[in-house]
Amino acid sequence: MLSLADFETEARRLLPKVLFEYIAGAAEDNISLRANRDAFQQYAFRTRVMVDVSRRGQQTTLFGATYSSPFGIAPVGISAMSAYRGDLVLASAAAKEHIPAIMSGSSLIRMEEVAKAAPATWFQAYIPGDVGKIEDLIGRIKSAGFGALVVTVDIPVWANRENNVRAGFSMPLRPSLRLGWDGLTHPRWLVGTLMRTMLLHGMPHFENSFATRGAPMLSASAIRDTTGRDHLSWETLQKIRRLWPGPLIIKGILNEGDARRAVAIGADGIIVSNHGGRQLDGAVAPLVVLPRIVDAVGKSTVVMMDSGIRRGADVLKALALGARFVFAGRPFMYAASVAGEQGVRHAIALLREEVDRNMAMLGACAVGDVTPDCVISRDRELW
Ligand code: FNR
Repeated sequence: MLSLADFETEARRLLPKVLFEYIAGAAEDNISLRANRDAFQQYAFRTRVMVDVSRRGQQTTLFGATYSSPFGIAPVGISAMSAYRGDLVLASAAAKEHIPAIMSGSSLIRMEEVAKAAPATWFQAYIPGDVGKIEDLIGRIKSAGFGALVVTVDIPVWANRENNVRAGFSMPLRPSLRLGWDGLTHPRWLVGTLMRTMLLHGMPHFENSFATRGAPMLSASAIRDTTGRDHLSWETLQKIRRLWPGPLIIKGILNEGDARRAVAIGADGIIVSNHGGRQLDGAVAPLVVLPRIVDAVGKSTVVMMDSGIRRGADVLKALALGARFVFAGRPFMYAASVAGEQGVRHAIALLREEVDRNMAMLGACAVGDVTPDCVISRDRELW
């Protein structure tokens, strides 16, 4: 495994098609998925040479904590289906490598267990459509002891993920001959992840969408409570701000007006994100709007981004355009599926080495040296 892309190739081989497609896929025609990667190619580096970079470092301080790298693990739903104890694997690997992991609210392991094993983990919540359930959920996240709360706001309705339907994916999964065959033809996953989970921990359930347990992950008839979220508004976020005393981060922002609103309700940070291209197909790549959002909210708000990060070079381009921190989703999920905690730690190490090497070639001793003049846009210059 020499790059994050290598984990994807291996995960495609090891995982049942239904799960691989769930992770890899996006919405409708994958326009945003492709745009996320293309956006990075719109920028080129301008190196500064003969700088003494022998004492360079990539440590980054966020919300009072110092991390070893300027990147973390984005929240990935139902990760315990693709990797044995997936949420724990991602959180523990991140803790050992001193980077943040954000635990998804669409997860199958109780949040208390993850917070206990890796107390520095951040928690990502989807706001319950039934607003009466918000207070209890926030209370539970607080009692579990998570350091930061990320609220994802780009899901007023479910996206149109045709690829999931074509691959036979649903939440919960419906038992079928096709699903059975998909499992049987991927024996390492069947034994190492599914059977091991069922034997040692029982049927996985959605544990953390609310204060109470939700639907099972595999069922012929159970229905997941996805009471509509399309009536939620900034007032809902204001209420959450009053309930949550720690760092509050709003994930899924793509325009300056919303960024300013997030600051106005008292958010400490935002994640500029199009959900890895998995929500509104055609939504702009976060990297494209990042500089405007940074300009709009100023340096006092922690602006982070995700969607499409695959290389250290991508991390550095995002930092140059004003991001304080970035996250990657799919690559770490593939690494967890392929080789558990060791795989995720290796993926983190690869990305870290790429950042380190590229910082040296850029002439940067610290993340603060990665400034806008390190990159040049293809739009503005003729190459
Ligand atoms: C996600 N993402 C996501 N986001 C979130 O806020 N809560 C969630 O439960 C999930 N679940 C989820 C599952 C899977 C399989 C993927 C791939 C993604 C989005 C995720 O946090 C992040 O925004 C994207 O993954 C970033 O894009 P890349 O790094 O995957 O290109």
